[in-house]
Amino acid sequence: MKSLVILISGRGSNMQALMEANLPARIAAVISNKPEAPGLETARSRGYETIVLDPRSYPDREAFDQKLAAAIDAYAPDLVALAGFMRLLGDNFVSRYKGRLINIHPSLLPAFPGLHPHRQALKEGVKVHGCTVHFVTAETDRGPIIIQAAVQVMPDDTEETLAARVLRQEHRIYPEAVRWFMKDRLKLSDNSVEVSDADFDNSVLYSPGLSK
Ligand code: GRF
Repeated sequence: MKSLVILISGRGSNMQALMEANLPARIAAVISNKPEAPGLETARSRGYETIVLDPRSYPDREAFDQKLAAAIDAYAPDLVALAGFMRLLGDNFVSRYKGRLINIHPSLLPAFPGLHPHRQALKEGVKVHGCTVHFVTAETDRGPIIIQAAVQVMPDDTEETLAARVLRQEHRIYPEAVRWFMKDRLKLSDNSVEVSDADFDNSVLYSPGLSK
């Protein structure tokens, strides 16, 4: 069976969605760069192996990235999924995992990369917002897009209400992307994404029924 390593930094709700999705893959381990990440306890309580690698214990980014890669490679996973992993990864790390490193970002990329995407969306007054699963490349939040889901922005939205609406879609599209990958329906070739035999369109998912 194929396997997956999940990297987290916090709450871990996307990690949890992957755990609950009945994926055709084994979650080999959960790795956090934050010792206090609440998601670690969720993973432990469900019997998953967890590893904490605190960047403060390493002299520089390259040293941390090398240690992280060694920890991941011990499981020889088919895929590495960043799930709220709030740390930039260096070019060497990213190229080592080319085509098997994916991320979820809570905006319709390329709009609103980086921090506070919901705040940025409200500030710009967009009417449609959402989330994106993409392959990770050297440029943060700019890798080839695998799947997106859109939600409506309501006139009375706050960052919190908008984040919650988007998060429900994150929990829907991330397992879907991982499922495609594990079933060999998804691959990165020449920096573009190929999805074959998908049972739904991977361009934009929008369901008013799910947007509330
Ligand atoms: C999610 O919105 C994810 O897209 C973003 O950070 C948040 C993490 O949430 N990168 P969780 O830890 O998965 O609950």
